[in-house]
Amino acid sequence: MFKQKICCIGAGYVGGPTMAMIAEKCPHIRVEVVDINEKRIAAWNSDTLPVYEPGLQEIVERNRGKNLFFGTGVEDAIREADIIFVSVGTPTKTYGHGAGRAADLCYIESAARMIARCAKGPKIIVEKSTIPVRTAEAIKTILKANSEEGQFQVLSNPEFLAEGTAIDDLLEPDRILIGGEHTEGGQAALQVLVDVYANWVPRERILTTNLWSSELSKLVANAFLAQRISSINSISALCERTEADVDEVARAIGADSRIGPKFLKASVGFGGSCFQKDLLNLVYLCEHFGLPEVAEYWDQVVKINDWQKSRFAQNIVQALFNTVIGKKVAILGYAFKKDTNDTREAAAGYVCRDLLEEGAQLSIYDPQVKLEGVTQHLLYLGVSQETIDKQVHIAESAEESTKEAHAAAILTEWDEFKTLDWASIYQQMLKPALLFDGRNILPVEETRKLGFDFRPIGKG
Ligand code: NAD
Ligand code: UDX
Repeated sequence: MFKQKICCIGAGYVGGPTMAMIAEKCPHIRVEVVDINEKRIAAWNSDTLPVYEPGLQEIVERNRGKNLFFGTGVEDAIREADIIFVSVGTPTKTYGHGAGRAADLCYIESAARMIARCAKGPKIIVEKSTIPVRTAEAIKTILKANSEEGQFQVLSNPEFLAEGTAIDDLLEPDRILIGGEHTEGGQAALQVLVDVYANWVPRERILTTNLWSSELSKLVANAFLAQRISSINSISALCERTEADVDEVARAIGADSRIGPKFLKASVGFGGSCFQKDLLNLVYLCEHFGLPEVAEYWDQVVKINDWQKSRFAQNIVQALFNTVIGKKVAILGYAFKKDTNDTREAAAGYVCRDLLEEGAQLSIYDPQVKLEGVTQHLLYLGVSQETIDKQVHIAESAEESTKEAHAAAILTEWDEFKTLDWASIYQQMLKPALLFDGRNILPVEETRKLGFDFRPIGKG
């Protein structure tokens, strides 16, 4: 009945939405997303998806059970598929050689070994995960050692979607990148994948390269994007000393078509599962290939980001007369950006950790992140459960969070924060009422007129 079968190993923030879009646009292809995490798969099959992403629920509901399936039968799915996407996590290594920098490829290796064990007949293996340049070599070695000549073709097809806009990004990608080997088999496999995307992406936006360019381009794209944020954030500190306004500076420089206006929004610091991990990985690779100067250059992007986050927390402590012990501080937003429930590397976590160390009582409100998400993230950052129990409260609304607080800090740019009744929030806070805008979403003059001691980023 179906002309082609695709299986995707890993039902996460990338695997789920990406496969849902392929199923939506290719009714002739059967798509099965598999994962070893039973809870996650159960959630994909329920009304409460594990990933919050505008527009995702509708697409999943339209296609689930028709040509889109979520399951835990990884081995069967591998056996049946013509194309196998590998979309497992590639977090920063936390142990052994390269800890804190290199990518941990244990999930990639386990997926490759599973494919080698179960696959019968020819398969196209697609690296969807972000991986260090030349990882395909390792995958090929594992596969070759366990298969007949030419049974497997490995392609690199990194994903460029951003969380919060995943569906729009998948619907109209700036480009699709596919890397393959310059052999007859490699080019034939590459064409098969090009044809899948061509069901909805204009051909001129489907770029094809060799394997290594494709793998490296993904790391470099994230490094360039993150570098713009660290650049403008470094300038935000200079603006605060000089009474220049960082948003005005960003607008002025972004109007130059050579620079462009995007990704110049000063903030409390970038977060998310990708930027820091991929930068650290790039740094590690440069060191590995004997390029310490290049490694140092990119490492600075991470350092500025760390500094921006801790600078923000320090500013709160300083403004509260150098002590926050026992003081209630409202935290508005915890997700690493708006329109996602993802907390990975969220700047809010680092700010909260620093404030908790200083003894503050935090009242946290986020429209999508609740107690479990906050607790998991704070534990990951080394905050003890005892501290969380004693000093962290999860509020049901921004109003509850700010009630009788000494200070409030906006850490995620959720749209609903722009339209809160800030006048009444001011009334119910302790005075002086300090308001820190880590996303520069509130108008400076109007907010100050309400009575707040208002501290945006990069504005004198
Ligand atoms: P994720 O942690 O949300 O999902 C990965 C999933 O893989 C998990 O559910 C895990 O249980 C599963 N898994 C691990 N080993 C498995 C195995 N052997 N068999 C079956 N399932 C297995 O990760 P993510 O955010 O979807 O990221 C996946 C990859 O995509 C990473 O390499 C990441 O760098 C890259 N990426 C992420 C984004 C993003 O916005 N999150 C964007 C572009 C690229
Ligand atoms: C990023 C890349 O954009 C995407 O192409 C890649 O596939 C995965 O990594 P993501 O991390 O989901 O996507 O979101 P992104 O919009 O890039 O934002 C990352 C972080 O940077 C967020 O914390 C965001 O708030 C911050 N940011 C972004 C800024 O502080 N200022 C900006 O101007 C833009």
